[in-house]
Amino acid sequence: MTVTEAVRQRISTRAFLDDPIPQDALADLLQTAQRSPSGGNLQPWKVIAVTGAAKDEIIVMAQRVLAADPMGPVPGDRPVYPDLTVIDQVYNERRKRVGEMMYEKIGIPKEDRAGRMMWFANNYRFFGASVGLFMIIDRRMGHGQWAHMGMYMQTIALLAEERGWGTCMQECWARLRVELHAHFGLDENHMVYAGIAIGVPDPNNPVNDIYADRAPQHEVVEFRGF
Ligand SMILES: Cc1cc2nc3c(=O)[nH]c(=O)nc-3n(C[C@H](O)[C@H](O)[C@H](O)COP(=O)(O)O)c2cc1C
Repeated sequence: MTVTEAVRQRISTRAFLDDPIPQDALADLLQTAQRSPSGGNLQPWKVIAVTGAAKDEIIVMAQRVLAADPMGPVPGDRPVYPDLTVIDQVYNERRKRVGEMMYEKIGIPKEDRAGRMMWFANNYRFFGASVGLFMIIDRRMGHGQWAHMGMYMQTIALLAEERGWGTCMQECWARLRVELHAHFGLDENHMVYAGIAIGVPDPNNPVNDIYADRAPQHEVVEFRGF
């Protein structure tokens, strides 16, 4: 598989088979992903990988927290999105579009808010993936280091493609940052940024047929001096 193929075929996988991912295979992937670039080579990321009982504990915890307060806010000062009502509307439109595309594919109409919420809750079961990765960052890191964390996450996703695995980045876990912080016993300087569900994709689930579109190049790229 070429890098171009991996980039083009990667999608957010939202349904997985039960097939396990062995620890040594995952360790090999993460070892390679460690080659991701970062300013000053800070490598400002840490990962907690969970499977089996360790993963189940988190699923149970998430269900307990979400049952008590299903619409609770993301705690702390690092929201998942900026205020999309005050910035250029193109971002909000892109967000709405991909959401509609997903719910159309799985056949849950807008009016069925409960159905959509229930489906969204699959996030908190890692969409059935064999492994959940939690991306941990020192909260004293600046916006640059958060960007470098993103490079690391994308490297993980592309290496997963090469192995026939799928991934879904999961910022939904931001909602449980306080509980996850306690659960993992993190020190006061560290926080969970996001998760990544990783496993063998279910080829028969239509949710995995979604190929989210992208902005036309002229919206994002300027060529000068060519
Ligand atoms: C940092 C990050 C967090 C994300 N969090 C979630 C999430 O919590 N749940 C989810 O279903 N998708 C999540 N996504 C997936 C995006 O919705 C997806 O990448 C985008 O719509 C483009 O689709 P594609 O990944 O299939 O190309 C996240 C993506 C990124 C990069």
